[in-house]
Amino acid sequence: MRIAFFDSGIGGITVMTEAMKQLPREDYIYYADNLHVPYGTKSKDEVKFYVKTAIDDIMQEEVKAVVIACNTATSIAVADLRNEYQVPIIGLEPAVKPAVEMNRASGKRVLVFATPLTLSQSKYTDLVTRVDDQHIVDSLPLTDLVGYCERLEIEEATQYLQEQLAIYDLANYGTIVLGCTHYPFYKNVIKQLVPDHIQIIDGSNGTVKKLKQELEKSGMLSVHGTCDVKYMCSSHDSATLAKLEKATQIYAEIDRVNLEDN
Ligand code: DGL
Repeated sequence: MRIAFFDSGIGGITVMTEAMKQLPREDYIYYADNLHVPYGTKSKDEVKFYVKTAIDDIMQEEVKAVVIACNTATSIAVADLRNEYQVPIIGLEPAVKPAVEMNRASGKRVLVFATPLTLSQSKYTDLVTRVDDQHIVDSLPLTDLVGYCERLEIEEATQYLQEQLAIYDLANYGTIVLGCTHYPFYKNVIKQLVPDHIQIIDGSNGTVKKLKQELEKSGMLSVHGTCDVKYMCSSHDSATLAKLEKATQIYAEIDRVNLEDN
């Protein structure tokens, strides 16, 4: 049985890549709801409906866990999905808590990037209220970045990011949180635009750890897999499947360069 990763588009590939590193003996499904990307600028009800339709599609396959590799879909739909399906459903949320902890001693601020829909949900605002006891967290919706990413335009987003960051005095910030799974495609670009001391983090490591724990708990960890990926998409066309495979290769290289730099 495979582990399924789901996102509106190619963003969840950044989380699946982390899973392939931590769980190399598994096989995977990657499902993109490319007919409806982006989710981050749609209404809550629309996203809820699209996510449910896509997960129903995924459940036609033999899966042992589903990772909602999308912060926006998690904040809208994860509770309903857990009530509805038997298999473990693992969600993702912006890594605000670790970021606040990382800056407690230095007194520097935290900047969270996410989609407009994620930032407007009570799941996010409650999280910030709960963990941001020093009031150091600022949030910035990067509305256009998912579009650049879906077109596989990486360097091309540099000017957009520069403009978005221009109003911040980045010397005061210690950590940037990438609270949308598309954004790690830009971790090397963002690194070039911000002071060296700023750490850039995302939620994929914590999510994959949770996935591993779930599988261990139920004795479902595999030893025979080879990181084989079955790509699926809501439009069911081969050009999109080829794009998903290409995006996986592009991201593997971005991740490799990032690790080498650190
Ligand atoms: N990748 C998604 C996230 O983590 C959503 C992007 C979108 O469809 O707007 O929020």
